[in-house]
Amino acid sequence: MLPWLSLLLLFLPLLLIIAVKRRQGQLQPPGPPQLPVIGNLHHIGKLPHQTLWKLSQKYGPVMFLQLGRVPTVIVSSPETAKQVLKVHDIHCCSRPLSEGTRKLSYDHLDVAFSPFDDYWKEVRKICVQELFSTQRVHSFQPIRDEVIQKLIDSISESASTNSLVNLSQKLMSLTASLTCKASFGMSFQGSKIDNDRFQMLVHEALQMLGSYSASDFFPLVGWIFDWFTGLHRRREKIVGDLDAFYEEMIDLHLQENRQGDEDFVDVLLKLEREQAALGNAQITRNHSKAILMDILLAGIDTSAISMTWAMTELVRNPRVMKKVQAEIRNQIGENARVRFENVNELKYLKMVIKETWRLHPPSPLLIPREVMSEFQINGYTIYPKTRLQVNLWGMGRDPNVWKDPEEFLPERFMDGSIDAKGQSFELLPFGSGRRICPGILMGSVMVETALANLLYHFDWKLPDGMAVQDIDIEEAPGLTVYKRTPLELVPVRF
Ligand code: HEM
Repeated sequence: MLPWLSLLLLFLPLLLIIAVKRRQGQLQPPGPPQLPVIGNLHHIGKLPHQTLWKLSQKYGPVMFLQLGRVPTVIVSSPETAKQVLKVHDIHCCSRPLSEGTRKLSYDHLDVAFSPFDDYWKEVRKICVQELFSTQRVHSFQPIRDEVIQKLIDSISESASTNSLVNLSQKLMSLTASLTCKASFGMSFQGSKIDNDRFQMLVHEALQMLGSYSASDFFPLVGWIFDWFTGLHRRREKIVGDLDAFYEEMIDLHLQENRQGDEDFVDVLLKLEREQAALGNAQITRNHSKAILMDILLAGIDTSAISMTWAMTELVRNPRVMKKVQAEIRNQIGENARVRFENVNELKYLKMVIKETWRLHPPSPLLIPREVMSEFQINGYTIYPKTRLQVNLWGMGRDPNVWKDPEEFLPERFMDGSIDAKGQSFELLPFGSGRRICPGILMGSVMVETALANLLYHFDWKLPDGMAVQDIDIEEAPGLTVYKRTPLELVPVRF
């Protein structure tokens, strides 16, 4: 044993020197100068996608930042996004483990990690079959009809009194009800947490995931820092409240006299029981709750944000508003309700939505990935454990990619050559590759159907005294990017 140990001690410095030399021989992507200890943390700013885009214009589409102890690479062109998400997907399709995600995922039991283990494959398969397949999304039509009708009725009431409608809030409430009904098969009726509180919790959880916390970059010192700033307490509270909500929903499903069709929670509970009976408890109660957390956090606000920005851009661009309303009204005629099957014919509406996602991708830096094995982009070496982010927001506004990028011009998608489903790397609202959003169909159908109804049933006016140029288009920080101030408009019944 001792000779081996001495041999190891003798060669260890040599091995270290070889490793350092090897790294020195390989190129690291360029990036802004770093400060001691914090590296580039001071460069991040309140809206990281915006500050990072400015820096990328100086340092190029593959940019290196040292965020505390975490090496980070930001890619910001369609070509480099393709390298990361398609060509080298297999080397970087893991998610980094952070303090925020640990809490929100019941110690990383959710679908987000370990893309190669059997558990991940199993869970993704269940989610796709039970929630995201075309057949399931079709089967949610009655739920969509019911929830959208409620929205139309409540907006009609405001229209009858010429009152303002807070569309940001209404749309968030719509997607929360739809996603919860599709997953839990029930609404908030009777729950201790009502729809408003639930939306607030989802919003806070996403803000927490999107904000950079000290413990992610400086393990021990950062933890103490977060404790002093109260971040830990806030996290505990949000996770505790969401957990209580899931427990309550699960208890309702476990009641013996429960009525209604089998829904997603029933499927998870059945799996728990089957696996426990076989003595192979891969899916426990905490796994089920972690999966529900993923679906609700990922599904609710992305769709609401898409619709809010679309309505914002439409009122800012009356020509486009008129054209899209004419298309919908001509197509639907007297039908009085736009349904899933009508939406395929609404070509201009689809272009409006793509144009909205170009300027306002709900998740502007995608969800961070972590490199698992070394690879190269544009001649630069990217090492394991590096955090990777794709700046969709910057790519959507790049004049090298888009003509007149600041203009809201849905016609740019007229020839249909650019899709939004992960194949066209200039427009990636759902990401691409192994980690592509599994809820693409559910999300798109929700956004298209609800928007079509809002535009069919109502004309939309700005509040008295407000002009188009007064509309606030500032963004709020977070993993997903809301409009900073709520969109408030006056509906006029068509
Ligand atoms: C317009 C609506 C939506 C948009 C724009 C959107 C966008 C995204 C994006 C950008 C990602 C990250 C992809 C990546 O990192 O490459 C993602 C992941 C995810 N989305 Fe969506 N999403 C939407 C709707 C939904 C819905 C309705 C659900 C479920 C009900 C959902 C569930 C998920 C899940 C579970 C993930 C994590 C996938 C993984 O890490 O493997 N999304 N979504």
